[in-house]
Amino acid sequence: MQNVRVELGSRTYRIAIGPSLIANLGVECKNLNLGQKCAIVSDSNVSLIYGETVFKSLKSAGFDPVLITIPAGEISKNLSEVQSCYELLAHHRVERKSFIVALGGGVVGDLAGFLAATYLRGVPLVQVPTTLLAQVDSSVGGKVGVNLKAGKNLVGAFYQPRYVACDQSVFATLPDREYKAGLAEVIKYGIIYDRSFFVKIEQNIELLLKRDPVLLSEIVARCCQIKAEIVGQDETETGLRAILNFGHTIGHGLEAISGYGQWLHGEAISIGQIAAARLSARLLGFPQIEVDRIRSLFSRVGLPTHIALPASDRRRLLDAMNVDKKVVAGEIKFVLARTIGTVEFGHGVPEDLLMEIIETLHEQGLN
Ligand SMILES: NC(=O)c1ccc[n+]([C@@H]2O[C@H](COP(=O)([O-])OP(=O)(O)OC[C@H]3O[C@@H](n4cnc5c(N)ncnc54)[C@H](O)[C@@H]3O)[C@@H](O)[C@H]2O)c1
Ligand SMILES: [Zn+2]
Repeated sequence: MQNVRVELGSRTYRIAIGPSLIANLGVECKNLNLGQKCAIVSDSNVSLIYGETVFKSLKSAGFDPVLITIPAGEISKNLSEVQSCYELLAHHRVERKSFIVALGGGVVGDLAGFLAATYLRGVPLVQVPTTLLAQVDSSVGGKVGVNLKAGKNLVGAFYQPRYVACDQSVFATLPDREYKAGLAEVIKYGIIYDRSFFVKIEQNIELLLKRDPVLLSEIVARCCQIKAEIVGQDETETGLRAILNFGHTIGHGLEAISGYGQWLHGEAISIGQIAAARLSARLLGFPQIEVDRIRSLFSRVGLPTHIALPASDRRRLLDAMNVDKKVVAGEIKFVLARTIGTVEFGHGVPEDLLMEIIETLHEQGLN
């Protein structure tokens, strides 16, 4: 087992990474000095596969767990689901010293985290992420929240967990598309922060696609370490934390214009990162050979690298980016790369150049 600490003063917490952590969850929670009662919040898929193991682990460690299951999928990440969960928490007499265990992917993590941040003005939270995306990204860093009809993640809070258990054995049941989407975030860490990590992924891609557990533990640990370092310096995204958004401006735009149904987040940011690399080449002298390396790596993973985007959709994409959070004083701000491993945030990009780059995504796709 490896440990990564997220250093946030009195709210510092530990991320444990390795196999068998789910079965040992109860024992780990014992050391956190939490109340006896706890609510495991999970979704309909994950709860079926891992709910019982987690329940038994907590029970045999002396806790009194209840299991709350929400329907799987992004559709559940809304305020009416939050309301139903509040009622269930009250019904099961979850109280101030009780804690919430988020068992699932990013949807469960964000929703259960929001519950923990707000129910009784805050109860302790333990994250047990079960997708690759959730282990390397959403469970670390304390952003929790839900969607509104007007857009994603518009209601939320910064609320740090007390403990995160990243167990790689759960990837055995993760659908292939979800797994690959998670790899898009993994590759992002190499581009924004650690060139040798990017090279390691390039060199081990076959093993990674076979979900080799030893390699995966190392990879997840490095991603968590990088995110922890960034969040430790800038918890509430006043500066540095923005680099985590590399590829996300265009990625979020693509998700928005497709109604959040067509693309998984990881797939959208695969295309977004290729676009950001091309923008970087035009504006910061990012070497073309590195653009090609990035594109080739996403392609080898089996992630999309281009998109059929008729002219009317290109305009819609630009408009969607304009309503995204990263617009400051009318200019869309981008995270751009100087080299693989070094990026800068806050670069304004002229709209005509942006349109040109969007066209390159289409040209290499279908008509
Ligand atoms: N808080 C943050 O910092 C942050 C960062 C990135 C993304 N997010 C959020 O995360 C969400 C996406 O998360 P996600 O990609 O994990 O999606 P998800 O939670 O919807 O999980 C994807 C699918 O995989 C299933 N699943 C999960 N683990 C499984 C397992 N081990 N075996 C079999 N099936 C499993 C789920 O039931 C679901 O159907 C989005 O809502 C996004 O906004 C939050
Ligand atoms: Zn992301």
